[in-house]
Amino acid sequence: MDHFVSMKELTEKEIIEFLDRAEMFKKNGTHELPGKYTVSNLFFEPSTRTKMSFEMAERKLGLDVLPFEAAFSSTLKGETLYDTVKTLEAIGVDALVIRHPEDGYYEELIGRTSLSIINGGDGSGQHPTQSLLDLFTIREEFGSFEGLNVLIVGDIGHSRVARSNAQALTKLGANVTFLCPDEWADEFKSVNDWDEVLESSDVVMLLRIQHERHGGEELFTKESYHEQYGLTTERVLRMKERAIIMHPAPFNRGVEIASELIEHARSRIFMQIKNGVYVRMAVLEKILKGRK
Ligand code: CP
Repeated sequence: MDHFVSMKELTEKEIIEFLDRAEMFKKNGTHELPGKYTVSNLFFEPSTRTKMSFEMAERKLGLDVLPFEAAFSSTLKGETLYDTVKTLEAIGVDALVIRHPEDGYYEELIGRTSLSIINGGDGSGQHPTQSLLDLFTIREEFGSFEGLNVLIVGDIGHSRVARSNAQALTKLGANVTFLCPDEWADEFKSVNDWDEVLESSDVVMLLRIQHERHGGEELFTKESYHEQYGLTTERVLRMKERAIIMHPAPFNRGVEIASELIEHARSRIFMQIKNGVYVRMAVLEKILKGRK
């Protein structure tokens, strides 16, 4: 595998191999990769979790990490993404983790650089390492995916997390249902009432409203969204006995989820973040070891 950019092309076997390797990392901690590899994290959109957990994964693997700050880079002087990547290739970097606002930014890079590209999120396209950490967390809880009912709620059409998870979970045998206003459904077939789905769901995955992709148009106030589509303290009481709450974060307290539910016994939100380090170690190892 030369690059890791999308869940769409991964086979079920490849996904399970990543999860198994991440499980090994979670049990055993640090693991120095033989050989000397240099990586850099290029984030052209804000990030706390993805950027920090890639950095932690890189340190645990003993990689050299070249710092890059988009806000202080020559991007501000008009340098294109392609030219930035070719520059880092010339400097001697082996792999780049890239987050970029443009859907499919990686398509113009693959085949034109000897660097490996790991996608840290592209616009509304894909967020494959988030998907892997979500899958890891679900498997830790339920042991497998076959027949699980996963409900994804919120700004589905703008969400790279929803898109990556829908593809991966369906491939693994889970039933994925979407709950959102019709205006946000995009290519997804959705329901728009909690009553149809809440009591049968094993996983309730909430999403942040992606205001930055709405072009200034807002359908809801915080209060009206919470009332209609948020996981409230009343709704949580109707969840199945073993059902869990997930959210890729950052979360907006009192909007898509009641503040009291963030650290509720059903919530796996901080466990998702913890698991992100191990799946990212697995991805970095696979990509770097596969380099010719
Ligand atoms: N879940 C996620 O991608 O969070 P960040 O935007 O903070 O990286």
